[in-house]
Amino acid sequence: MNKMIEISNLSKSFPSPDGEEMVHVFSGVDLVVEEGSSVAIVGPSGSGKSTLLNIVGLLDKPTDGKLIVAHKNLNKLKETEVSEYRNQTVGFVFQAHHLLPSCTVLENVMLPGLAGFGEKVTEELKERANQILEEVGLGHRTSHLPGQISGGERQRVAVARSLINQPSVLLADEPTGALDSKNSEHLVNLLKELNEEKSLTLVMVTHSAESANQMKQAYHLDEGSLRQER
Ligand SMILES: Nc1ncnc2c1ncn2[C@@H]1O[C@H](COP(=O)(O)OP(=O)(O)O)[C@@H](O)[C@H]1O
Ligand SMILES: [Mg+2]
Repeated sequence: MNKMIEISNLSKSFPSPDGEEMVHVFSGVDLVVEEGSSVAIVGPSGSGKSTLLNIVGLLDKPTDGKLIVAHKNLNKLKETEVSEYRNQTVGFVFQAHHLLPSCTVLENVMLPGLAGFGEKVTEELKERANQILEEVGLGHRTSHLPGQISGGERQRVAVARSLINQPSVLLADEPTGALDSKNSEHLVNLLKELNEEKSLTLVMVTHSAESANQMKQAYHLDEGSLRQER
């Protein structure tokens, strides 16, 4: 099996607000995720789950440690490679959908296909966006604005948007945190389907034991260390 994510001895500290000392979030974190696997990361609030995911997505930098994702050594990427990595290699889904309110569902999904690469709206991009929306069960909502669909649907649009550039890894940070139990179940089932059918490697932070149980592996982050639960 191919390793999709390989993290060794990762640590992260932030300077305290007065800058006097360092706040240590975690250290000695090792994590290997095989291509096509799905991993849940659980742990109390403030334990560093978002920080860990942000580091894997290169939205933040580690204090120390080695990261290899999709055969790229993240410690050694150049500036242009960093933006390409964020845009193409990983997809992100957050607790809040972050959709643009004045763009249609279809436009929101197409957007990362345009970002920063001087690309135009092509028929191919439009077709891909329509197809992904079909796959997440929203083929009938493409012309709606985010305000005209339900919370569960908005979060499925956010998933569709994260997939437009066909990432190798999907990073989901409490993606069901703002949903009721029925919509949460629907969303986790969708993520599971994408993981199984597209062989998309999935890392999901969640507070829900039920959602975590749907993933092939589970890790617990607490008191500065990550340990595997199953
Ligand atoms: N930009 C930042 N500057 C300083 N401290 C931060 C920053 N981001 C996160 N932290 C701290 O790191 C710790 C972990 O935060 P976070 O990763 O958001 O936890 P979780 O997602 O598990 O709730 C918290 O103590 C938080 O205050
Ligand atoms: Mg968090």
